[in-house]
Amino acid sequence: MKKVIISLDNHKSEVYVGLNWNEVRNFIPASGCVIITDDNVYKIYGKLFPDFPVISIKPGEDSKNIGTIVTLAEKLLDEGIDRTGFILGIGGGVVCDITGFLASIYMRGINFGFISTTLLSQVDASVGGKNAVNIGKIKNILGCFRQPRFVICDPDLLLTLPDDEYLSGLGELVKMGLILDYNLFEKIENNIALLMSKDADLLESLISDSVELKASVVREDEKEISGKRMILNFGHTFGHVIETVASMKHGFAVAAGMVIASGISEKLGLIGLEEFQRIKSLLEKLNLLKKYSLDDNYFQEMLLKDKKKQGSLISFVLLQSPGRAVVRKMTVYEIMNLYRSIKKQV
Ligand SMILES: NC(=O)c1ccc[n+]([C@@H]2O[C@H](COP(=O)([O-])OP(=O)(O)OC[C@H]3O[C@@H](n4cnc5c(N)ncnc54)[C@H](O)[C@@H]3O)[C@@H](O)[C@H]2O)c1
Repeated sequence: MKKVIISLDNHKSEVYVGLNWNEVRNFIPASGCVIITDDNVYKIYGKLFPDFPVISIKPGEDSKNIGTIVTLAEKLLDEGIDRTGFILGIGGGVVCDITGFLASIYMRGINFGFISTTLLSQVDASVGGKNAVNIGKIKNILGCFRQPRFVICDPDLLLTLPDDEYLSGLGELVKMGLILDYNLFEKIENNIALLMSKDADLLESLISDSVELKASVVREDEKEISGKRMILNFGHTFGHVIETVASMKHGFAVAAGMVIASGISEKLGLIGLEEFQRIKSLLEKLNLLKKYSLDDNYFQEMLLKDKKKQGSLISFVLLQSPGRAVVRKMTVYEIMNLYRSIKKQV
């Protein structure tokens, strides 16, 4: 078991990787707790939940909207939850985003924690204190920064995860290696068969690496002020458009976005052609590259609406090498011209 502590100015978040999730009883208050989960997770694990009121939402991205937040807030009021209350989110990235956002605004903020049940949320979404919901197809446009008290990442929970959800998580795991740690990238490359068989020891080690890497970025730039945290958006500028329009799961869309961003990095002379091919080949071997077809004009229109755009510039994340990312401010037109020039390779 590994414990990663994210100490920030006036708060602290603790992430436990490899801890049995039943231990959660040692982390939550004896009363005043409500559990938020989704119907799939509840069906599999609900009987083993701690004995507190459970509110279960419809699974999936469509639940990540402000209407859900209002409905849940009303249920918290019905349960008599006041400012001393606690919300425990048990689920993947959707449940964690919703729980974190709700807890951040309910009565101006109450404490919360997560049991993170998907690979994607264990390696990324549940760690770092970003919480958000969507408006229509615009992702994460209403959100805030607020840290969970604790996150439990128990890899045993991943055994019930549908295959495509597992693969989706691998997308974000590869991203962590590509932007921050060549050794992690190589470890994934060298262990594809074990990874595909959900080997418990390997998973615990990779999730720990990823959490440690994300924690180091969050400690340095919790609120995306210095820019360091922006590197976590590698693959997401195009990925978010692909995710919404091609209805692809997050990690697959991020994988497609990472191929585009790596292709653009190669075009700009930052990485070599061989490195680009190596990255694409790894994503292919992990079955992460799905076919999609998107109109260039639509891409451009959506990039112009990107919430990370400042004036006419987008902070676009590129690779200097596998394991090292850089952020460059570019216009949407520059990005689109580069995209058009590499489109056939990606
Ligand atoms: N806040 C952040 O920093 C951050 C970072 C990355 C992604 N995200 C967000 O995360 C979301 C995607 O998260 P996700 O991929 O975990 O999706 P998800 O939460 O929708 O979970 C995927 C599916 O798996 C099911 N499931 C969850 N755990 C299970 C288990 N143990 N066994 C069986 N089924 C299980 C869920 O019911 C759901 O159907 C997106 O909304 C994305 O924007 C947030």
